[in-house]
Amino acid sequence: MEERPTSVWSSTRFWRKSAGWVTGVSALLLIWLSVDTVAQISMGTDEDMQAKKPMRIFPSTVINHKVTYEYDAKRGHEVPVIGEKEAFFGRSDYSPEEADALLRHGKLTVQAKNCMSCHTLLGNGGYFAPDLTKAWLDPAWSESGPYMAMTGTATREEAMAKFMMHPSTYPTHARRMPELGITEDEAKAIVAFLKHMASIDTNGFPRNFAKMNGGVNAK
Ligand code: HEC
Repeated sequence: MEERPTSVWSSTRFWRKSAGWVTGVSALLLIWLSVDTVAQISMGTDEDMQAKKPMRIFPSTVINHKVTYEYDAKRGHEVPVIGEKEAFFGRSDYSPEEADALLRHGKLTVQAKNCMSCHTLLGNGGYFAPDLTKAWLDPAWSESGPYMAMTGTATREEAMAKFMMHPSTYPTHARRMPELGITEDEAKAIVAFLKHMASIDTNGFPRNFAKMNGGVNAK
């Protein structure tokens, strides 16, 4: 008897084989992506930073350096640029251990005070108050901004720390930040945490930060 030609679309063998290949290739892709992601989100070391190796997450000792945000034409958005040494609360020689401890204290304070109920960090949190990912770079804290004069301080970090301890004394927006009972040590640690956060290469997040009203290089 003559066998009737069957379409490949109705062949069980074809579908079984396809499913096998798709599952196999996807699994390999996922494993590769996971390994790559872990490498991208791991914090770099101080030696690698000094050797200017490219990295997304700088070590805690980045607080010893100037951090700026510059437009990268090739990538089409701003990227953090780590500059020369710059004093942070009068010092630029924090050891990796000291800087790690400072950042950890800052992170724990941010968690304990639940800053993310109002603010977002790396996009997570509340939408009541400004995103804090690049708060360190906000020109409001620079010599040309209002905070240094308001707080009677001469540096960005001191102005931020003073604001953190007494936010209701230095309001700049229509919405006010409440007093959270933050001590001087906690304020210093939070500012270190925010400076480090600003140095993270977030692929330009928050988008258009530099062009936002009051943002970095705002025209
Ligand atoms: C109840 C809501 C609320 C909580 C909780 C809160 N904030 Fe705020 N924060 C605000 C508001 C509103 C503003 C803007 C007010 C202003 O500038 O006067 C602000 C402003 C700021 C700024 C200035 C933003 C910029 O772009 O320069 C920083 C930095 C900041 N907060 C950090 C923190 C940290 C750190 C915590 C936790 C310790 C925290 N906030 C907890 C409401 C909050």
